Amino acid sequence: MTAAASREAFGSRAGFILAAAGSAVGLGNMWRFSYQASEGGGAAFVLLYIMMTLMLGIPLMLAEFGLGRRGQLTPIGALRRLAGRGWARIGYVFVIGGGLILSYYSVIAGWTVRYAIDSIWHGFPGDSGAHFASVASGSGAIAFHVGFMAATIAIVMAGIKSGIERVSFVLMPALFLIVVGLAVWAFTLDGAGTGYTVYLQPDLDELLNPSVWRAAAAQAFFSLSLGMGAMLTFASYLGKDQDLPGAATIVAFTDFGVAFVAGLVVFPVIYSLGLQGAVSQSTVGALFIALPGAFDAMGAIGRVVGLFFFVALAVGAITSTIALLEVVAASVIDEFGISRRTAALGAGVAITLLGILPATNLDLLGLMDKIAGELMLIAGVLVISILAAWILRHEVAEELAAGASPFWRRQVPRIMAVLRWFVPPVITVILLVSLKETIAAIVAFGG
Ligand code: PHE
Repeated sequence: MTAAASREAFGSRAGFILAAAGSAVGLGNMWRFSYQASEGGGAAFVLLYIMMTLMLGIPLMLAEFGLGRRGQLTPIGALRRLAGRGWARIGYVFVIGGGLILSYYSVIAGWTVRYAIDSIWHGFPGDSGAHFASVASGSGAIAFHVGFMAATIAIVMAGIKSGIERVSFVLMPALFLIVVGLAVWAFTLDGAGTGYTVYLQPDLDELLNPSVWRAAAAQAFFSLSLGMGAMLTFASYLGKDQDLPGAATIVAFTDFGVAFVAGLVVFPVIYSLGLQGAVSQSTVGALFIALPGAFDAMGAIGRVVGLFFFVALAVGAITSTIALLEVVAASVIDEFGISRRTAALGAGVAITLLGILPATNLDLLGLMDKIAGELMLIAGVLVISILAAWILRHEVAEELAAGASPFWRRQVPRIMAVLRWFVPPVITVILLVSLKETIAAIVAFGG
C-alpha cells in the first residue's frame, strides 16, 4: 500500500477538473450518444438524458468523489479501508469492468484514427458501408487498436501530473473548439431543420417507454464515467481544500454540453442528406457509416470537416482511455506496491490482447458494451449509492462539505438525501430492465 504522504496528486484544481472532464467527454458523447438518441426516439431520449444527468449523475459523481478522496486509494483499497474486506471484492469488479470497457473502447478509438488518416490520403469513399466493414475487420482493425493502446499506455506511465494532467490541458480546449465549430458549420446546411426537429422535439410515446429510460440512465453513467471507480480514483489524488460539488457540477455540464453540441452536428448532417436509414442499423451506423457518407457527398468541404470531426473523436477518446487504464494500473500500484511504469505496461498489454477479440468481431463488441458499458455500470452505481449514503453516510457528507463553498455546503444534506432515498430505488428498477435486455442480448449472441 502506498503511504498517503507519497501519493501522487494533481498539480492544480483546473488540472483535476480538466482530467475528470476529459475522462467523461469521449466516444460516449459522440458515438454512443448519437446512436442511443436515434434509437430512443431522438428528443425523448435527450430530455430523459438531461434529467438523468442532473438527478442521478451529479449526486453519484459526488458519491464517488467523496469516497475516493476519503479513501485516498483506488477502488479496491479505498473500499477495503473505508468499509472492510467484503466491499473490497466489489472494487475488483469495478477494475475488471474498467478493463473490459477499455478493451473494446480502444478498438473504436482506433477506427476514428483510421478515418482521420484516410480522409487526408483518400477522402471519404463513396460506399461508406463497405468502407466501414473493411476498417472494422482484419489486421487493420487490430493494428489501430494496438497503436491507440500504446499511446494510452505511454501517457499513463508518465503519471498524473506530467502525463494525464498535461495532456488534458491541451486536448480538452482543442476538442471544444472543434465541436463548436462543426455545429456552427452544420447550421448552414440546407435541410438542417429536419435534423433539429428530430433531435429536439420529443415524442410522448417514447417518453413513456421503459427501454428509453434505461438507455438514458445507462448513457448518463457511461458518459459521466460513473460506476467503475474512475471518478473515485481521480478524487483520490485530490487535497481536502478542493470544492467537490463545484467540480462535479462543472464536469457534468461540460460532458452534457459536448454531447448536446455533438448532436447539433450529427443530426443536421444526416438529415440534410437523407441518410437517416443508415443511422439506426447498428451501434456504429450514425458515426461510422452515415456521417462519412455525408462527408463524401459534400466533396472537398466534407473532407476537411470530416477530418476535424474524426480528430475530435480521437482526442475525446484518448482522454477517456487514459482514465480507464489509470483505474486498472493505479489499482495494481496500490495493491501490489509495484512501480507505475510496470503496472501501466502490464495492465495495458493484457487489455490490448483482450481487445483483439472485439476488434475482429463486431457483434461481440456490441455485447461487451451492453454487459460492461451498461449492466455493470448500473450495478456499480447502485453499490456506490448504498455505500455512500447508507453505510458511510457521515464520512461522505463530511467529505463533501470539506473545501466546498458556503452555497454547496448548505446543499450537502439535500444531496445526501437524494443519494439515500431517491437514487437506489430508481436505479434498482433500471437495473432490472437492463438485466432483462442484457440476457436477451446474450441469448441472441449465442443463437
Ligand atoms: N465517459 C467516457 C465516454 O463518454 C467513457 C468512460 C466510461 C471513461 C467509464 C471512463 C470510465 O466516452
